[in-house]
Amino acid sequence: MEKNAPIGVFDSGVGGLTVVREIMRQIPNERIVYFGDTARVPYGSKSKDTIIKYSRQIIRFLQGEGVKAIVIACNTASAFAIDTVQKEFSMPIIGVVKSGAKVAVDTTKNGRIGIIGTEGTINSGMYASFIKAQNPNAEVIAKACPLFVPLVEEGMLDDTITEQVAGRYLTALKNENIDTLIMGCTHYPLIKSTIQKVMGEGVNLVNPAYETSIELKRLLETEGLANVCEVDSPTLMYRFYVSDAAEKFKDFANSILPFDIKTIEQINIEKY
Ligand code: DGL
Repeated sequence: MEKNAPIGVFDSGVGGLTVVREIMRQIPNERIVYFGDTARVPYGSKSKDTIIKYSRQIIRFLQGEGVKAIVIACNTASAFAIDTVQKEFSMPIIGVVKSGAKVAVDTTKNGRIGIIGTEGTINSGMYASFIKAQNPNAEVIAKACPLFVPLVEEGMLDDTITEQVAGRYLTALKNENIDTLIMGCTHYPLIKSTIQKVMGEGVNLVNPAYETSIELKRLLETEGLANVCEVDSPTLMYRFYVSDAAEKFKDFANSILPFDIKTIEQINIEKY
């Protein structure tokens, strides 16, 4: 595999851009092909079998784009599909759940860790089992927040409705005396200030994106896949694909990423 081949990154929608943003910061010389499954978002309420099928289709598409490694920038797909797709595809594939769990275990002082995520991620129990494997004495308190993803996808980042929903979901967690809260969905860092406001400054919010990009960097180096070529312009280095509503995605992406995306291509993911 060519060292200057791109990294494939995917999510159900815009959430994975929070991971892309971090990869751009930590390994700025790597090319990226991003796929947002905007036709089938949200993933969080779907079954494990469906998410495995979606993940396979996306990885096949990204493989066709010549990627050298995959980052599943979606907690739900990481929780449900990573074991299966790691067995089925020969290229390196990493997710976000393991990284998030590691940071939380390293961060907590009182051993009480909260996790918020989609129903799929929370019901999978993946975060809790990674945390317990590293610290069997840790107390894990999990809460699914299914309305956060549609609110973010609608761009309601600074909005009183989002604040009210956050209040409803998080008040019970706030009373659990946690000192660390994992944002176990890649959409949630986009409403971090709202979550922080409800939880209070005493609670550390963990965004698994940073640790994931460091893990990716390490992996590329170990596998001899790190890009050593000259860096191009952003237009040549980064390509974006979606399964629906490309223009809406573009506006959103341009408000999150450090540069403006000029083109986003819409593809039919069902044929992969
Ligand atoms: N952003 C994804 C996650 O991290 C998926 C959210 C969804 O589509 O429900 O779980």
